[in-house]
Amino acid sequence: MKEIIFATNNAHKLSEVQVILGEGVRLVTLRECGITEDIPENEPTLEGNALAKARYVHGRTGRDCFADDTGLEVDALGGAPGVHSARYATDGHDFAANNRLLLRNLEGCADRSAHFRTVVALILDGREYLFEGRVDGRIVESESGDGGFGYDPLFMPDGFDRTFAQMDGDEKNSVSHRGRAVRKLAGFLSETGK
Ligand code: IMP
Repeated sequence: MKEIIFATNNAHKLSEVQVILGEGVRLVTLRECGITEDIPENEPTLEGNALAKARYVHGRTGRDCFADDTGLEVDALGGAPGVHSARYATDGHDFAANNRLLLRNLEGCADRSAHFRTVVALILDGREYLFEGRVDGRIVESESGDGGFGYDPLFMPDGFDRTFAQMDGDEKNSVSHRGRAVRKLAGFLSETGK
């Protein structure tokens, strides 16, 4: 079975992505390859961060790997929080504080349109590849649902009347930014026979 390192410590993401890649691929965690330190992600773009993380893991292990970087880009906020989505309100990954700040910054704002964008950077046999997935939707007025993570309780994808946090994992994967990017990755891996 193909083994590939997924450069994340987020268990939600790991299981979302494992489901999409299916049984032919086993995702190897950072912990399994002895990477316990935080991987630097200080680049100004999602593409830059995804590549930096993948290059870091490849440099440490020499193995096939991929990394993703995601941002929530809100039109009325000029694309914020964007690449700063994880640390919007605080220095840590405080999802509740991020959601409160987002709602505050959109108070009284009629245009609630937003999208999530994920960039996946793959290093396979030493070569680099990028895949992008995007989902359009809007930021609702207050949190709904307790599934998922991050901004899920505030994001309602176009064509739905529920937030990501009100969907089960399969339904979210079928439309989500990461689902779309990872399906491109999965298609590429199966085309190349890797
Ligand atoms: P990361 O690059 O995937 O770590 O994502 C950066 C930040 O974007 C996370 O800390 C979350 O706040 C947010 N985020 C990423 N993916 C999702 C998602 O699927 N739903 C909600 N928020 C997300």
